[in-house]
Amino acid sequence: MTGEPGGSGFSRRHLLFGGAAAAGAGAAVALGASAAIRAGNGAAGAVADGAGGAVSATAVGEAIVPFHGVHQAGVETPPQSHAVFIALDLLPEVDAAALRRMLRVLTDDAARVTQGRAPLADTEPELAAVPARLTVTFGFGPGLVARAGAETPSWLRPLPPFGIDRLEPRWNDGDLLLQIGADDAVTVSHAARMLLKDARSFAAVRWTQRGFRRAAGSEPEGRTMRNLFGQLDGTVNPKPGTADFDELVWSMGEPAWMAGGTSMVLRRIAMDLDGWDRVDRPGREASVGRTLASGAPLTGEREHDEPDFEALGPVGFPVIPDFSHLRRSRSDVPGERIYRRGYNYDEAPAGPSVSDAGLLFASFQADVDRQYVPIQRRLDELDLLNEWTTPVGSAVFAIPPGCAEGGYIGDTLV
Ligand code: HEM
Repeated sequence: MTGEPGGSGFSRRHLLFGGAAAAGAGAAVALGASAAIRAGNGAAGAVADGAGGAVSATAVGEAIVPFHGVHQAGVETPPQSHAVFIALDLLPEVDAAALRRMLRVLTDDAARVTQGRAPLADTEPELAAVPARLTVTFGFGPGLVARAGAETPSWLRPLPPFGIDRLEPRWNDGDLLLQIGADDAVTVSHAARMLLKDARSFAAVRWTQRGFRRAAGSEPEGRTMRNLFGQLDGTVNPKPGTADFDELVWSMGEPAWMAGGTSMVLRRIAMDLDGWDRVDRPGREASVGRTLASGAPLTGEREHDEPDFEALGPVGFPVIPDFSHLRRSRSDVPGERIYRRGYNYDEAPAGPSVSDAGLLFASFQADVDRQYVPIQRRLDELDLLNEWTTPVGSAVFAIPPGCAEGGYIGDTLV
Protein backbone atom coordinates (compact mmCIF):
# COMPACT_ATOMS: atom_id res chain seq x y z
CA MET A 1 0.00 0.00 0.00
CA THR A 2 1.13 3.52 -0.70
CA GLY A 3 -0.84 5.22 2.08
CA GLU A 4 0.76 8.32 3.50
CA PRO A 5 1.63 8.11 7.18
CA GLY A 6 -0.46 11.27 7.60
CA GLY A 7 1.19 12.86 10.61
CA SER A 8 -1.17 12.24 13.51
CA GLY A 9 -2.53 9.06 11.98
CA PHE A 10 -3.41 7.41 8.72
CA SER A 11 -6.89 6.61 7.59
CA ARG A 12 -8.54 3.43 8.68
CA ARG A 13 -9.72 2.98 5.13
CA HIS A 14 -6.10 2.80 4.09
CA LEU A 15 -5.37 0.29 6.81
CA LEU A 16 -8.32 -1.82 5.79
CA PHE A 17 -8.21 -1.65 2.05
CA GLY A 18 -4.66 -0.77 1.17
CA GLY A 19 -3.76 1.74 -1.47
CA ALA A 20 -2.81 1.88 -5.10
CA ALA A 21 -0.17 -0.80 -4.79
CA ALA A 22 -2.76 -3.21 -3.45
CA ALA A 23 -4.92 -2.53 -6.49
CA GLY A 24 -1.96 -3.23 -8.73
CA ALA A 25 -1.20 -6.28 -6.72
CA GLY A 26 -4.78 -7.44 -7.18
CA ALA A 27 -4.13 -7.43 -10.87
CA ALA A 28 -1.03 -9.45 -10.18
CA VAL A 29 -3.13 -12.14 -8.51
CA ALA A 30 -5.31 -12.40 -11.56
CA LEU A 31 -2.22 -12.97 -13.67
CA GLY A 32 -0.67 -15.51 -11.32
CA ALA A 33 2.57 -14.83 -9.52
CA SER A 34 5.03 -15.81 -12.20
CA ALA A 35 3.07 -14.14 -14.96
CA ALA A 36 2.81 -11.07 -12.80
CA ILE A 37 6.56 -10.94 -12.37
CA ARG A 38 6.94 -10.82 -16.12
CA ALA A 39 4.05 -8.44 -16.65
CA GLY A 40 5.78 -5.45 -15.10
CA ASN A 41 6.32 -2.42 -17.29
CA GLY A 42 9.95 -2.26 -16.33
CA ALA A 43 9.64 1.35 -15.22
CA ALA A 44 11.82 0.77 -12.21
CA GLY A 45 14.53 -0.90 -14.22
CA ALA A 46 14.40 -4.24 -15.92
CA VAL A 47 16.81 -7.00 -15.01
CA ALA A 48 17.72 -9.49 -17.71
CA ASP A 49 16.56 -12.93 -16.55
CA GLY A 50 18.92 -14.97 -18.67
CA ALA A 51 16.05 -16.67 -20.45
CA GLY A 52 15.55 -13.89 -22.93
CA GLY A 53 12.87 -12.10 -20.93
CA ALA A 54 13.10 -9.26 -18.48
CA VAL A 55 12.08 -9.06 -14.86
CA SER A 56 10.77 -5.76 -13.64
CA ALA A 57 11.97 -4.82 -10.21
CA THR A 58 8.54 -3.42 -9.27
CA ALA A 59 6.77 -6.53 -10.50
CA VAL A 60 8.83 -8.67 -8.13
CA GLY A 61 7.66 -6.47 -5.29
CA GLU A 62 4.01 -6.40 -6.33
CA ALA A 63 3.54 -10.11 -6.93
CA ILE A 64 0.93 -11.61 -4.65
CA VAL A 65 0.17 -15.17 -3.59
CA PRO A 66 -3.49 -15.67 -2.58
CA PHE A 67 -3.93 -16.36 1.12
CA HIS A 68 -7.28 -18.13 1.29
CA GLY A 69 -7.77 -21.60 -0.13
CA VAL A 70 -8.09 -25.30 0.54
CA HIS A 71 -4.37 -25.53 1.38
CA GLN A 72 -2.19 -22.98 3.08
CA ALA A 73 0.15 -21.03 0.83
CA GLY A 74 3.88 -21.53 1.29
CA VAL A 75 3.94 -25.25 0.49
CA GLU A 76 3.19 -25.43 -3.23
CA THR A 77 4.33 -21.83 -3.68
CA PRO A 78 7.63 -21.75 -5.57
CA PRO A 79 10.10 -21.01 -2.78
CA GLN A 80 10.73 -17.31 -2.28
CA SER A 81 14.24 -15.99 -1.82
CA HIS A 82 13.95 -15.21 1.91
CA ALA A 83 12.30 -17.13 4.70
CA VAL A 84 12.11 -17.06 8.43
CA PHE A 85 10.89 -19.96 10.51
CA ILE A 86 9.72 -18.91 13.97
CA ALA A 87 8.56 -21.31 16.69
CA LEU A 88 6.55 -20.06 19.64
CA ASP A 89 5.55 -21.65 22.92
CA LEU A 90 2.05 -21.01 24.19
CA LEU A 91 1.84 -19.25 27.55
CA PRO A 92 0.56 -21.52 30.33
CA GLU A 93 -2.79 -19.74 30.69
CA VAL A 94 -3.77 -20.09 27.01
CA ASP A 95 -6.84 -22.34 26.79
CA ALA A 96 -8.89 -23.38 23.76
CA ALA A 97 -10.85 -20.11 23.76
CA ALA A 98 -7.68 -18.01 23.89
CA LEU A 99 -6.15 -20.19 21.21
CA ARG A 100 -9.09 -19.45 18.96
CA ARG A 101 -8.71 -15.71 19.58
CA MET A 102 -5.02 -15.88 18.78
CA LEU A 103 -5.53 -17.83 15.57
CA ARG A 104 -8.24 -15.42 14.41
CA VAL A 105 -6.00 -12.41 14.96
CA LEU A 106 -2.92 -13.96 13.37
CA THR A 107 -4.96 -15.20 10.40
CA ASP A 108 -6.34 -11.71 9.89
CA ASP A 109 -2.82 -10.24 10.01
CA ALA A 110 -1.53 -12.83 7.55
CA ALA A 111 -4.50 -12.43 5.20
CA ARG A 112 -3.87 -8.69 4.99
CA VAL A 113 -0.11 -8.47 4.91
CA THR A 114 0.28 -11.19 2.26
CA GLN A 115 -2.02 -9.19 -0.03
CA GLY A 116 0.03 -6.01 0.31
CA ARG A 117 -2.31 -4.47 2.90
CA ALA A 118 -1.21 -3.25 6.28
CA PRO A 119 -2.54 -5.33 9.18
CA LEU A 120 -4.69 -3.44 11.70
CA ALA A 121 -2.63 -1.18 13.94
CA ASP A 122 0.42 -1.49 11.72
CA THR A 123 2.72 1.30 12.81
CA GLU A 124 4.84 0.97 9.65
CA PRO A 125 2.14 0.52 7.00
CA GLU A 126 4.47 1.57 4.18
CA LEU A 127 6.39 -1.65 4.72
CA ALA A 128 3.33 -3.66 3.75
CA ALA A 129 3.28 -2.11 0.28
CA VAL A 130 5.72 -4.64 -1.17
CA PRO A 131 4.16 -8.11 -0.80
CA ALA A 132 6.83 -9.74 -3.01
CA ARG A 133 5.00 -13.13 -3.00
CA LEU A 134 4.76 -13.05 0.78
CA THR A 135 3.29 -16.17 2.35
CA VAL A 136 2.63 -16.96 5.99
CA THR A 137 2.23 -20.65 6.78
CA PHE A 138 1.08 -21.77 10.22
CA GLY A 139 2.15 -25.02 11.82
CA PHE A 140 0.96 -26.64 15.03
CA GLY A 141 3.16 -28.61 17.42
CA PRO A 142 1.80 -31.35 19.69
CA GLY A 143 1.46 -28.87 22.57
CA LEU A 144 -0.94 -26.65 20.64
CA VAL A 145 -3.09 -29.55 19.46
CA ALA A 146 -3.34 -30.83 23.04
CA ARG A 147 -4.29 -27.34 24.25
CA ALA A 148 -7.10 -27.31 21.67
CA GLY A 149 -8.33 -30.63 23.07
CA ALA A 150 -8.21 -32.11 19.56
CA GLU A 151 -7.01 -35.47 18.31
CA THR A 152 -3.25 -35.52 17.65
CA PRO A 153 -2.05 -37.00 14.35
CA SER A 154 -0.13 -40.22 15.11
CA TRP A 155 3.11 -38.78 13.67
CA LEU A 156 2.97 -35.43 15.48
CA ARG A 157 5.84 -35.80 17.96
CA PRO A 158 9.60 -35.31 17.91
CA LEU A 159 11.41 -37.58 15.44
CA PRO A 160 13.05 -40.65 16.95
CA PRO A 161 16.70 -40.04 17.89
CA PHE A 162 19.30 -40.74 15.18
CA GLY A 163 22.98 -41.59 15.62
CA ILE A 164 24.05 -38.63 13.49
CA ASP A 165 22.06 -36.14 15.58
CA ARG A 166 23.80 -33.54 17.69
CA LEU A 167 20.61 -31.68 18.51
CA GLU A 168 20.77 -28.46 20.50
CA PRO A 169 17.55 -27.85 22.45
CA ARG A 170 17.56 -24.19 21.32
CA TRP A 171 16.57 -25.31 17.79
CA ASN A 172 14.04 -28.00 18.67
CA ASP A 173 10.25 -28.33 18.80
CA GLY A 174 7.68 -25.61 19.54
CA ASP A 175 3.90 -25.18 19.85
CA LEU A 176 3.25 -22.81 16.95
CA LEU A 177 5.28 -22.39 13.79
CA LEU A 178 5.26 -19.37 11.52
CA GLN A 179 6.94 -19.96 8.18
CA ILE A 180 7.18 -16.55 6.53
CA GLY A 181 8.62 -16.33 3.02
CA ALA A 182 8.92 -13.52 0.46
CA ASP A 183 11.18 -12.33 -2.32
CA ASP A 184 12.16 -9.37 -0.17
CA ALA A 185 13.87 -9.46 3.23
CA VAL A 186 12.22 -6.25 4.50
CA THR A 187 8.80 -7.72 3.72
CA VAL A 188 9.64 -10.86 5.70
CA SER A 189 10.89 -8.83 8.63
CA HIS A 190 7.81 -6.61 8.71
CA ALA A 191 5.38 -9.52 8.45
CA ALA A 192 7.18 -11.36 11.25
CA ARG A 193 7.09 -8.30 13.47
CA MET A 194 3.36 -7.75 12.90
CA LEU A 195 2.51 -11.36 13.70
CA LEU A 196 4.77 -11.53 16.73
CA LYS A 197 3.34 -8.32 18.17
CA ASP A 198 -0.13 -9.83 18.01
CA ALA A 199 1.04 -13.22 19.29
CA ARG A 200 2.89 -11.93 22.33
CA SER A 201 -0.01 -11.99 24.74
CA PHE A 202 -0.51 -15.67 23.90
CA ALA A 203 2.92 -17.10 23.17
CA ALA A 204 6.67 -16.48 23.49
CA VAL A 205 9.28 -16.93 20.79
CA ARG A 206 11.20 -20.17 21.23
CA TRP A 207 13.55 -19.97 18.24
CA THR A 208 14.01 -18.06 15.00
CA GLN A 209 15.78 -19.49 11.95
CA ARG A 210 16.44 -17.39 8.87
CA GLY A 211 17.19 -18.78 5.43
CA PHE A 212 17.79 -17.64 1.91
CA ARG A 213 18.01 -18.75 -1.68
CA ARG A 214 19.07 -16.82 -4.77
CA ALA A 215 17.37 -13.43 -5.19
CA ALA A 216 14.25 -13.26 -7.34
CA GLY A 217 15.21 -12.61 -10.95
CA SER A 218 18.84 -13.64 -10.48
CA GLU A 219 18.26 -16.94 -12.27
CA PRO A 220 15.70 -18.23 -14.75
CA GLU A 221 12.49 -19.27 -13.04
CA GLY A 222 12.21 -22.85 -11.89
CA ARG A 223 15.93 -23.54 -11.61
CA THR A 224 16.89 -25.92 -8.81
CA MET A 225 18.44 -24.15 -5.84
CA ARG A 226 22.09 -24.50 -4.93
CA ASN A 227 23.01 -25.18 -1.33
CA LEU A 228 26.20 -23.79 0.22
CA PHE A 229 28.19 -26.89 -0.80
CA GLY A 230 27.48 -25.69 -4.34
CA GLN A 231 25.20 -28.66 -5.09
CA LEU A 232 21.95 -28.46 -6.99
CA ASP A 233 19.55 -29.41 -4.22
CA GLY A 234 15.94 -30.28 -4.97
CA THR A 235 16.25 -31.97 -8.37
CA VAL A 236 14.16 -35.01 -7.53
CA ASN A 237 11.06 -33.63 -5.88
CA PRO A 238 7.35 -34.20 -6.44
CA LYS A 239 5.96 -31.49 -8.71
CA PRO A 240 3.38 -29.16 -7.13
CA GLY A 241 0.02 -29.29 -8.85
CA THR A 242 0.33 -32.93 -9.94
CA ALA A 243 -1.68 -35.89 -8.66
CA ASP A 244 1.60 -37.39 -7.42
CA PHE A 245 2.28 -34.32 -5.28
CA ASP A 246 -1.28 -34.23 -3.94
CA GLU A 247 -1.05 -37.84 -2.88
CA LEU A 248 2.36 -37.50 -1.24
CA VAL A 249 1.86 -34.17 0.48
CA TRP A 250 -1.78 -33.44 1.38
CA SER A 251 -3.45 -35.21 4.25
CA MET A 252 -6.63 -37.14 3.47
CA GLY A 253 -7.93 -36.30 6.93
CA GLU A 254 -6.33 -38.33 9.69
CA PRO A 255 -7.53 -36.92 11.99
CA ALA A 256 -10.43 -35.19 10.25
CA TRP A 257 -9.24 -31.65 11.06
CA MET A 258 -6.07 -32.26 9.00
CA ALA A 259 -7.87 -32.85 5.66
CA GLY A 260 -6.10 -30.62 3.15
CA GLY A 261 -3.19 -30.06 5.54
CA THR A 262 0.23 -31.64 5.63
CA SER A 263 3.21 -32.01 7.95
CA MET A 264 6.51 -30.20 8.08
CA VAL A 265 9.79 -31.60 9.32
CA LEU A 266 12.32 -28.85 9.89
CA ARG A 267 15.88 -29.98 10.47
CA ARG A 268 18.66 -27.49 11.03
CA ILE A 269 21.65 -29.22 9.46
CA ALA A 270 25.08 -27.69 9.94
CA MET A 271 27.34 -28.02 6.90
CA ASP A 272 31.08 -28.16 7.57
CA LEU A 273 32.31 -25.87 4.82
CA ASP A 274 35.93 -26.10 6.09
CA GLY A 275 35.86 -29.89 5.87
CA TRP A 276 34.18 -29.71 2.45
CA ASP A 277 37.04 -27.42 1.28
CA ARG A 278 39.43 -30.32 1.74
CA VAL A 279 37.49 -32.65 -0.56
CA ASP A 280 38.39 -32.67 -4.26
CA ARG A 281 35.74 -32.42 -6.94
CA PRO A 282 35.49 -36.16 -7.72
CA GLY A 283 35.12 -36.86 -3.99
CA ARG A 284 32.41 -34.25 -3.66
CA GLU A 285 30.55 -35.66 -6.64
CA ALA A 286 30.86 -39.24 -5.39
CA SER A 287 29.41 -38.28 -1.99
CA VAL A 288 26.11 -37.33 -3.62
CA GLY A 289 26.28 -39.36 -6.85
CA ARG A 290 25.72 -36.29 -9.01
CA THR A 291 27.99 -33.82 -10.78
CA LEU A 292 28.33 -30.37 -9.31
CA ALA A 293 28.12 -28.44 -12.57
CA SER A 294 24.84 -29.75 -13.96
CA GLY A 295 23.51 -31.91 -11.13
CA ALA A 296 23.35 -34.85 -13.55
CA PRO A 297 23.66 -38.30 -12.00
CA LEU A 298 27.20 -39.67 -12.43
CA THR A 299 25.76 -42.06 -15.02
CA GLY A 300 24.01 -39.32 -17.03
CA GLU A 301 24.47 -36.00 -18.76
CA ARG A 302 21.56 -33.79 -17.76
CA GLU A 303 20.14 -32.87 -14.37
CA HIS A 304 16.92 -34.82 -14.75
CA ASP A 305 18.41 -37.96 -16.32
CA GLU A 306 17.46 -41.13 -14.47
CA PRO A 307 20.40 -42.50 -12.45
CA ASP A 308 21.63 -45.98 -13.39
CA PHE A 309 22.54 -47.66 -10.11
CA GLU A 310 23.65 -50.83 -11.92
CA ALA A 311 26.32 -49.14 -14.05
CA LEU A 312 29.86 -50.19 -13.08
CA GLY A 313 33.10 -48.22 -13.48
CA PRO A 314 36.36 -49.52 -14.99
CA VAL A 315 37.36 -51.49 -11.86
CA GLY A 316 33.92 -52.93 -11.23
CA PHE A 317 32.58 -50.55 -8.59
CA PRO A 318 29.17 -48.86 -9.07
CA VAL A 319 29.54 -45.49 -10.83
CA ILE A 320 27.03 -44.08 -8.34
CA PRO A 321 28.47 -45.31 -5.06
CA ASP A 322 26.28 -47.33 -2.70
CA PHE A 323 27.18 -44.89 0.07
CA SER A 324 26.20 -41.81 -1.94
CA HIS A 325 23.42 -39.53 -0.72
CA LEU A 326 21.47 -40.10 -3.94
CA ARG A 327 21.53 -43.89 -3.54
CA ARG A 328 20.75 -43.82 0.15
CA SER A 329 17.99 -41.21 0.09
CA ARG A 330 16.11 -42.90 -2.76
CA SER A 331 13.54 -45.45 -1.67
CA ASP A 332 12.31 -48.42 -3.67
CA VAL A 333 8.89 -47.86 -2.09
CA PRO A 334 7.04 -45.28 -4.24
CA GLY A 335 5.10 -43.83 -1.28
CA GLU A 336 8.29 -43.20 0.73
CA ARG A 337 8.91 -39.81 -0.79
CA ILE A 338 8.80 -36.27 0.56
CA TYR A 339 8.64 -32.72 -0.82
CA ARG A 340 11.81 -30.80 0.05
CA ARG A 341 11.61 -27.00 0.29
CA GLY A 342 14.73 -25.98 2.17
CA TYR A 343 16.73 -22.81 2.62
CA ASN A 344 20.39 -22.02 3.17
CA TYR A 345 21.51 -20.40 6.38
CA ASP A 346 24.73 -18.55 7.13
CA GLU A 347 25.20 -17.12 10.61
CA ALA A 348 28.04 -15.50 12.53
CA PRO A 349 30.69 -18.13 13.31
CA ALA A 350 31.37 -18.82 16.97
CA GLY A 351 34.42 -21.07 16.84
CA PRO A 352 37.64 -21.25 14.86
CA SER A 353 35.76 -21.75 11.58
CA VAL A 354 34.91 -18.70 9.49
CA SER A 355 31.43 -20.12 8.81
CA ASP A 356 28.38 -21.29 10.68
CA ALA A 357 26.38 -22.35 7.66
CA GLY A 358 24.02 -25.08 6.64
CA LEU A 359 20.61 -26.02 5.47
CA LEU A 360 17.20 -25.36 6.97
CA PHE A 361 15.96 -28.66 5.63
CA ALA A 362 12.18 -28.34 5.40
CA SER A 363 10.15 -31.21 4.05
CA PHE A 364 6.42 -31.67 3.59
CA GLN A 365 4.68 -35.01 3.53
CA ALA A 366 1.24 -36.37 4.39
CA ASP A 367 2.63 -38.71 7.06
CA VAL A 368 6.00 -38.21 8.79
CA ASP A 369 6.29 -41.77 10.09
CA ARG A 370 5.43 -43.41 6.78
CA GLN A 371 7.40 -41.10 4.47
CA TYR A 372 10.13 -39.13 6.24
CA VAL A 373 11.36 -41.44 8.99
CA PRO A 374 12.35 -44.41 6.75
CA ILE A 375 14.48 -42.08 4.57
CA GLN A 376 16.13 -40.51 7.60
CA ARG A 377 16.81 -44.00 9.05
CA ARG A 378 18.62 -45.04 5.87
CA LEU A 379 20.67 -41.85 5.82
CA ASP A 380 21.47 -42.36 9.48
CA GLU A 381 22.81 -45.86 8.77
CA LEU A 382 24.94 -44.83 5.79
CA ASP A 383 25.44 -41.68 3.75
CA LEU A 384 28.85 -40.27 2.87
CA LEU A 385 27.41 -36.77 3.11
CA ASN A 386 27.16 -37.34 6.89
CA GLU A 387 30.92 -36.69 7.00
CA TRP A 388 30.22 -32.99 6.49
CA THR A 389 26.66 -32.54 7.71
CA THR A 390 25.30 -32.57 11.28
CA PRO A 391 21.67 -32.18 12.31
CA VAL A 392 21.62 -29.65 15.16
CA GLY A 393 17.91 -28.89 15.33
CA SER A 394 14.70 -30.80 14.74
CA ALA A 395 11.00 -30.01 14.84
CA VAL A 396 7.80 -31.56 13.53
CA PHE A 397 4.63 -29.57 12.89
CA ALA A 398 1.15 -30.28 11.62
CA ILE A 399 0.37 -27.78 8.87
CA PRO A 400 -3.41 -27.42 9.07
CA PRO A 401 -5.46 -26.86 5.91
CA GLY A 402 -6.06 -23.37 4.56
CA CYS A 403 -9.20 -21.41 5.36
CA ALA A 404 -11.93 -19.66 3.44
CA GLU A 405 -12.48 -15.92 3.65
CA GLY A 406 -14.07 -15.22 7.02
CA GLY A 407 -12.53 -18.36 8.51
CA TYR A 408 -9.21 -18.72 10.28
CA ILE A 409 -6.27 -21.09 10.14
CA GLY A 410 -7.02 -23.83 12.62
CA ASP A 411 -10.80 -23.44 12.38
CA THR A 412 -11.13 -27.16 11.71
CA LEU A 413 -9.25 -27.80 14.97
CA VAL A 414 -10.51 -25.32 17.55
C1 HEM B 1 22.68 -30.71 4.73
C2 HEM B 1 22.06 -31.84 4.46
C3 HEM B 1 21.71 -32.28 3.07
C4 HEM B 1 22.27 -31.94 1.88
C5 HEM B 1 23.45 -31.00 1.66
C6 HEM B 1 21.55 -32.64 0.85
C7 HEM B 1 21.83 -32.56 -0.50
C8 HEM B 1 21.18 -33.27 -1.48
C9 HEM B 1 21.53 -33.26 -2.88
C10 HEM B 1 22.65 -32.45 -3.47
C11 HEM B 1 20.68 -34.09 -3.50
C12 HEM B 1 20.70 -34.47 -5.00
C13 HEM B 1 19.85 -33.58 -5.84
C14 HEM B 1 18.40 -33.63 -5.52
O1 HEM B 1 17.65 -34.52 -5.96
O2 HEM B 1 17.99 -32.76 -4.77
C15 HEM B 1 19.77 -34.62 -2.53
C16 HEM B 1 18.75 -35.50 -2.79
C17 HEM B 1 17.87 -35.97 -1.86
N1 HEM B 1 17.93 -35.76 -0.51
FE1 HEM B 1 19.28 -34.62 0.47
N2 HEM B 1 20.57 -33.38 1.43
C18 HEM B 1 20.63 -33.20 2.78
C19 HEM B 1 19.81 -33.77 3.73
C20 HEM B 1 18.76 -34.61 3.47
C21 HEM B 1 17.87 -35.14 4.45
C22 HEM B 1 17.94 -34.89 5.95
C23 HEM B 1 16.95 -35.89 3.79
C24 HEM B 1 15.77 -36.67 4.34
C25 HEM B 1 15.75 -37.30 5.47
C26 HEM B 1 17.28 -35.83 2.39
C27 HEM B 1 16.56 -36.44 1.40
C28 HEM B 1 16.85 -36.39 0.06
C29 HEM B 1 16.06 -37.02 -0.96
C30 HEM B 1 14.77 -37.81 -0.75
C31 HEM B 1 16.69 -36.76 -2.17
C32 HEM B 1 16.25 -37.23 -3.56
C33 HEM B 1 16.68 -38.63 -3.79
C34 HEM B 1 16.26 -39.18 -5.14
O3 HEM B 1 16.93 -38.89 -6.12
O4 HEM B 1 15.27 -39.90 -5.17
N3 HEM B 1 18.38 -35.05 2.24
N4 HEM B 1 20.09 -34.11 -1.30
